[in-house]
Amino acid sequence: MQKYRPLDSEDLPTNTSENEHFQVVVERTSSRRGFLKSGIGLSAAVFLAGPLSVFAKDNGANKQPSSLLGFKAIPISTDDTMKIAAGYTATVFAPWGTPLFSDAPAWKTDGSDDAAAQARQVGDNHDGIHFFPINGSSTEGLLVVNHEYTTADGGDYIWLFGANDTQPLTADKAAKAMNAHGVSVIHIARNSAGKWEIKLDSRYNRRITASTEMELTGPAAGSELLKTQADPSGTRVLGTFNNCGNGWTPWNTYLTCEENFNNYFGTTSGNDSRNVAQKRYGLAAKSTDYRWEEFVDRFDYAKEPNESNRFGWIVEIDPFDPSSTPKKRTALGRIKHENAAYALAADKRIVVYMGDDQRDDYIYKFVSEGVYQEGGDNSALLDAGKLYVAQFKDGKASDDFVGNGEWVLLDKTANPTLAADASFASQAEILINTRLAADALGATKMDRPEWVSVHPTSGEVYVTLTNNDKRKTPDAANPRAANIYGQIVRWREAGGDAAATAFEWDIFVLAGNPVKHTDRGDLKSGSANITVDNTFNSPDGLGFDQAGRLWIQTDGKYSNSGEYEGQGNNQMLCADPASKEIRRFFVGPKECEVTGITFTPDSKTLFINIQHPGEKGDSHWPDGGTSVPRSSTVIITKDDGGVIGS
Ligand code: FEO
Ligand code: CA
Ligand code: CA
Repeated sequence: MQKYRPLDSEDLPTNTSENEHFQVVVERTSSRRGFLKSGIGLSAAVFLAGPLSVFAKDNGANKQPSSLLGFKAIPISTDDTMKIAAGYTATVFAPWGTPLFSDAPAWKTDGSDDAAAQARQVGDNHDGIHFFPINGSSTEGLLVVNHEYTTADGGDYIWLFGANDTQPLTADKAAKAMNAHGVSVIHIARNSAGKWEIKLDSRYNRRITASTEMELTGPAAGSELLKTQADPSGTRVLGTFNNCGNGWTPWNTYLTCEENFNNYFGTTSGNDSRNVAQKRYGLAAKSTDYRWEEFVDRFDYAKEPNESNRFGWIVEIDPFDPSSTPKKRTALGRIKHENAAYALAADKRIVVYMGDDQRDDYIYKFVSEGVYQEGGDNSALLDAGKLYVAQFKDGKASDDFVGNGEWVLLDKTANPTLAADASFASQAEILINTRLAADALGATKMDRPEWVSVHPTSGEVYVTLTNNDKRKTPDAANPRAANIYGQIVRWREAGGDAAATAFEWDIFVLAGNPVKHTDRGDLKSGSANITVDNTFNSPDGLGFDQAGRLWIQTDGKYSNSGEYEGQGNNQMLCADPASKEIRRFFVGPKECEVTGITFTPDSKTLFINIQHPGEKGDSHWPDGGTSVPRSSTVIITKDDGGVIGS
C-alpha cells in the first residue's frame, strides 16, 4: 500500500470573503514607498522593489558574524538520522508509546498495543511542548507535550497499528487512535549521571486524550450552539484533539491549541447538511480519514451538529494538579489555533497572540479584562477580555519598518459593524464563529499563520507565515505569486504596549532558494539573509530563548529537488534578530517536521519534537532497521554543559 499523509486541510482555502490579502498590502506598499527604503532594514518593500544583491552586502557576507550565534552552521541532510551542530548532542526522549506508568506495557514494536495501553503511554505525533520547572529547577520538572494527530489517509492509519493492517477498523482501534491524541504530562528529572529520565508513576504523570472530560468556560459557555444531546448544559465536553502548537502562562498553566478539528467530523449519512459556519471551518461532506464517526455518534455531524463547535478552542491545563479539569477558554475565540504566545500589557493585563492556520486566514490577539497578579489567583483571567483581529496596512511606519496596522475589536456591542450584523445574535456567536466575524470586519488574509513568539526584551512579536502556493497575484511587481517558501513577519505595538490597538510591521525574512534561483534579484531566491548555506522552506515552529535568539523550525517540502533543491530534510535554524543572520543548527530524519520548543530555566537543556517521521512510509527513525518510525521528543544539550546556542 502506498502511504501518504492526507492533504493538510489548512492547504485548502475556505475563506471566500473579499478581505484584502497580505501580499496585496505588501505590493501596494512597495510601489508607494519601496525605492525609498534602505537595504539595512530588509523590509518587504526591499524584497519587492529591487535586486536583493544590492542589499546583500548589508545583510550577508560583509556583516560581522553574529555574537549571539555561537555555533558553526551545519549543511543540509537527507539522511534518516538527526544532524546537529558540532559540540552538541541530540537524544531521543519519550517517543510515541513510552509507558508513563508501571502498569502500562512496554511499547510493542508490531503496533499491537490496544486502546487501554495507549491511554497509559505517550501519544503520537508530538508537537507543542513546554517544560515547567519544579521549584525553579533546571534538572526536574513537568514536560507537557501535545500529540497533534496520528497519520491516516483515506481511512487507513499509516503507522498506528504498526505492521498490522488498519482493516477491519474496530471500536478498540478507533479508541486507540483517540487515546494517541491529546496531551502528555510527564514528570522528568536528571539522574545522578546527569541523564534525563521519566519518573514512572509520578503523581503528575497524566494522559489527556480525545475522551478526557473538559469544561467550556467564558462568554460562550452554555450557548445554544454548544449544547448537544449528551450535554444539554453546553459546558461539558469530552476531549481535545489536533493539539498543534502551545502556549503557557506566567501562572504556570499550559495552553494547548486545537487546530484542524474539522478533520474529525464527517458523516456516513451521504447527505451534505453542512451550514455556512461548518463550511467556513472546513468540515467535509464525507467520512473522515480517522473514521471515528463510524463508532461514536458525536463525530457524525449529521447526528450531532453542534459537537464540532466544542472544538477549535485554546484549552488551559494545570499540569501541577493531575485531577484538574482542563478548561476550554471561549473568550479567546474559535479558530484553527496554531499556538498561543503571551505578553504582559503595560498595566499587567495578559495578552495572547494567536494565528489561524489556513490559507488566507488571520492573526488574532486577546487582551484580558483583569490584570495578572504574581502569586495571586489568575484562574479566571482567560475568561473575560477583548478579542481582536489584525489588519496589516501600508501606512507610515518608523525606522525601517514597512507598514502599520490595526487591531480590530470583535465585539457585538462595541463594534458597530458587528452590532448591526444580524447573523451574530450575541457575543457568544461571535466567539464560536470567530472566522465569520473577522471576515465581516475586513481582517487581512495571511499566508497561513503558524507560530507566534514574543521577543523577551523588545516585546516585538514574530509570526511564521508558512507558505501559500495558491495565492493569486494581480501585480507583476510581485514575482512570488505562488508563495511556496513562506516568510516571517514581525510587528511592534504602539508605545511598546502589548494592549495597544495599533502597530507597525516588517518582514524579518522572506524564505527562498538561492540554490535553485541563483539570480538574487529573483524574489524566489529569498531575502538577503537567505543564502545557499541556510536555505529552507515553510517556517512553522518558532520560539525565542531568554537571550533573544530566534529559533525557526520547518514543516515543509523535503524532496530536496526542483524548487526545494539544496534544502534537505526539515530542520531547525537560529536567527539573530538584530543582524538578521540565520544559521542551520539541526536537521531531522526523513519525512518529519521539526516542531515545539522549550528550555530549562538555565537554558542548558532544549526540548524539541520530531513529528511524523516516515509519513509517506520512508523512515525507520529512531530505532532503525525495519522498525516502525516513532514521533519523539529530542533533548539537546551542549557537550561542555553550556547555554544552547551560545
Ligand atoms: Fe499543526 Fe499549522 O500546524
Ligand atoms: Ca505547525
Ligand atoms: Ca505546518
